[in-house]
Amino acid sequence: MIRINGLSHHIGAAPILHDIDLTLPRGKLVALIGPNGAGKSTLLRLVARLEPVQQGRIEIDGLDLSTTPTERLALAMAVMGQQTHIASRLRVAELVGFGRWPHHHGRPRPADRAAVRQALAAFDLEPLAHRFLDEVSGGQAQRAHLAMTFAQGTDWLLLDEPLNNLDMAHSRTLMARLADLVRGSGRSVVTVVHEVNYAAAWADHIVAMKDGRIVAEGPPETVLTEPVLSALYDTPIEVSRHDDRPLVLHHHWHDQLGSPFPKAADAPSHLLH
Ligand SMILES: Nc1ncnc2c1ncn2[C@@H]1O[C@H](COP(=O)(O)OP(=O)(O)O)[C@@H](O)[C@H]1O
Ligand SMILES: [Mg+2]
Repeated sequence: MIRINGLSHHIGAAPILHDIDLTLPRGKLVALIGPNGAGKSTLLRLVARLEPVQQGRIEIDGLDLSTTPTERLALAMAVMGQQTHIASRLRVAELVGFGRWPHHHGRPRPADRAAVRQALAAFDLEPLAHRFLDEVSGGQAQRAHLAMTFAQGTDWLLLDEPLNNLDMAHSRTLMARLADLVRGSGRSVVTVVHEVNYAAAWADHIVAMKDGRIVAEGPPETVLTEPVLSALYDTPIEVSRHDDRPLVLHHHWHDQLGSPFPKAADAPSHLLH
């Protein structure tokens, strides 16, 4: 599991994360939700050691993040950030191949090539394997980055808004693939999810963040409720059910609100405290 204790983070003088204590279970699909600016990406970047920890402690399966060598960490955890800037004159297959670097350090073996082929197939990228990244669409480039992360073959996958730019079919395929990794091969996935219904349909465990704090945590049933979500997003939200799971609705305005632009004060934020 990933254990986070007393984690605080500042950017300049601005506090971004406030004394976070959080345990992320192994062998689960965990969704991190919350409004823009809640600190989700910052938290993920700290766990992925893309930023140094300023205060607090993070442990991954017993490995202390502050002392674990990078090569060891790269075999335990693969990360896909929210902003992916990469040389555009790189071919799709080459990018995916980078995922194997921690295994072969520049001398790929047949098993590494097989892992790349599997990842390309898993993300529908075979026809695009030899295209340059600046010659594919945003969604196709996103799938190439995901394939690289998968090819790394780690126990933990940390993904920041992986559904960005993906159409409905590819979004669903990705969530199903993540669920498969968790249930079929006991891997652990932590993913930031912007559209909460993907968390509703697929996540085992949901962590809700707002203003640099964890405000709710638990199975979809307990986190995806009207009071929690309305307070989390400062907007009225209805929760229905579908396939025995929560289905979150936010396109219908209640008549009593009058304006289609309700003030934040209309949301029952007291219910979170
Ligand atoms: N490089 C930066 N400089 C200043 N503030 C930043 C920087 N990156 C993020 N922030 C601020 O940190 C807060 C959390 O950001 P982030 O972790 O990206 O949130 P989320 O991923 O939940 O949308 C936001 O208020 C954001 O404006
Ligand atoms: Mg973010």
